[in-house]
Amino acid sequence: MSGVVFKTIAVLVNKFEGELEEYILKENNYRVDSRTKFHSVLMNHCKEIYNFSLNFSLTDSWGFKLANGSFDGMTGALQRKEVDFGGSVLFLKKDRVYVISHGRSTWLLRYEIISYNICKL
Ligand SMILES: *[C@@H]1O[C@H](CO)[C@@H](O)[C@H](O)[C@H]1NC(C)=O
Ligand SMILES: *[C@@H]1O[C@H](CO)[C@@H](O)[C@H](O)[C@H]1NC(C)=O
Repeated sequence: MSGVVFKTIAVLVNKFEGELEEYILKENNYRVDSRTKFHSVLMNHCKEIYNFSLNFSLTDSWGFKLANGSFDGMTGALQRKEVDFGGSVLFLKKDRVYVISHGRSTWLLRYEIISYNICKL
């Protein structure tokens, strides 16, 4: 895929300093923007293996349905076909399934909920 440039969009909700690529591939502070950083490491491996380039744009929203039925953020960019694929992990939500293709799962999220009862003695 030498010379191929894909358009992608990443979701970053925190402000950062310096170069985007350095920020998302930095191995420290994975607790901040962790989903995008995880996905970027994965994409970087693919870039190296297949030798393509990425043209990144940024948004601060994963994409939520607006009153007129369109989506904002990354889902909106995918819906309007402004990008070839998403640069961040995206939760599978029912309303998104109708407007974009989710492809493969890369991040498995497991919720653990701690339930407790408060007993009055
Ligand atoms: C990778 O792609 C670049 C152009 O983007 C090219 O100059 C280079 O030779 C390619 N590398 C390989 C190993 O094919
Ligand atoms: C839907 O609403 C948003 C926010 O008001 C607007 O930016 C967008 O252009 C609208 N999309 C369509 C298809 O009307």
